[in-house]
Amino acid sequence: MERFPAASALIGAWKPDRPVIGLRPHAAGRAARWFLRHFPGDVAYAYKANSSVFLLGALYGAGIRKFDVASIPEIEDAATIPGAELHFMHPVKSRIAIRRAFAEFGVRSFALDSEDELRKIAEETGGCRDLTLWVRLAVPSLNSKIPLERKYGVTGVKATRLLAKARQAARELGVTFHVGSQTATPEAYLAALMEVGKLIARADVVVDRLDVGGGFPSIYEEDGAAAPLSAFVDTIMDGVDRLPIANRCRLMCEPGRALVAEAESLIVRVDARRGNELFINDGSYGTLFDATHMGFNFPVRLIGREPEPGEPMTAFSFWGPTCDTVDFMKGPFVLPTKIKEGDYIEIGNTGAYGRAIAGRFNGYGAFDEAILLDEPMLTMYPAETEHERRERWEIRHEAQQVQA
Ligand SMILES: Cc1ncc(COP(=O)(O)O)c(C=O)c1O
Repeated sequence: MERFPAASALIGAWKPDRPVIGLRPHAAGRAARWFLRHFPGDVAYAYKANSSVFLLGALYGAGIRKFDVASIPEIEDAATIPGAELHFMHPVKSRIAIRRAFAEFGVRSFALDSEDELRKIAEETGGCRDLTLWVRLAVPSLNSKIPLERKYGVTGVKATRLLAKARQAARELGVTFHVGSQTATPEAYLAALMEVGKLIARADVVVDRLDVGGGFPSIYEEDGAAAPLSAFVDTIMDGVDRLPIANRCRLMCEPGRALVAEAESLIVRVDARRGNELFINDGSYGTLFDATHMGFNFPVRLIGREPEPGEPMTAFSFWGPTCDTVDFMKGPFVLPTKIKEGDYIEIGNTGAYGRAIAGRFNGYGAFDEAILLDEPMLTMYPAETEHERRERWEIRHEAQQVQA
């Protein structure tokens, strides 16, 4: 894949007609190293967030070997990664998916949130006892952009009964939850862990594994920053320490967004302007689903030409290329006032879920790809150590060499 020092160099060379995904594998590697170093347990990458081989390669290079997978196609893909340990964390699976995961791919780790699912797992694995069974508990979503609380998870008496039954069936009993994606405040994990503690105490079971799920935030707006990731880890440790199982329980987390959001930008062209609305060549049916449906204001910048000296900035909205009026991104996306048809925009931090969700409605949605060697537009991972500063210097140096 072609490499460029930055998106502006790509525009100069390609004048691309289609949207371009600019990958920054170094950002994925950095995020993975941060989690592996700071999270006191296993780090499983939530495969659904982005399965680009370039980003997977970077995560692997950083040391990620565990993957949260949710379907047979994800398992088929992830199973090709050498040494991959797969956790089938979807609480509702088809019988054939359980059977194939177990028999063809050697998966021994399954999530569930009902006695029906427990029965399915037992029947489709031939009553295998060598299983890690994760009971997915329903926990409150606090300050999350994408709450997941209504769909999966068990609570109350049903939860205590399921914990007891799963305990009998499993070699390792785990508890898992998800506080909702893009959770801005660490207290969400504390509230979830308090709920976990209550239910474990009521069920009176020994729990071997505790998975705090995904939900760790990325950064999309300069001033809308969530708490630093270190505050999330500290709060989780505080919550775990208060649990009756603290000493003997192995921890896991399953970040998706936080590992890959910064690792891609989307480069789009302005195809028309109407006042403060820009018609761009990708949208909510493509990589920008979250900008429409979740109200994400991704960072943006004009690329390929310099703004005029002293040119003011203006807040714009975007229309995507399809005929549907849903294909609208309110923003505000702040760009130079004189932006016009033919200009290019870099939309940053689109690496989580963007391309994973993208479809081809109306014949749009095809994109090209290139590697970018510069830094993400916004980051949750400032250089903390001399080693990390050196690593950033090396990437800048490589970018200069590519430029030359
Ligand atoms: C079971 C499970 N684990 C992990 C994740 C990753 O979440 P996030 O991208 O918010 O870190 C998800 C996302 O939906 C999920 O459903």
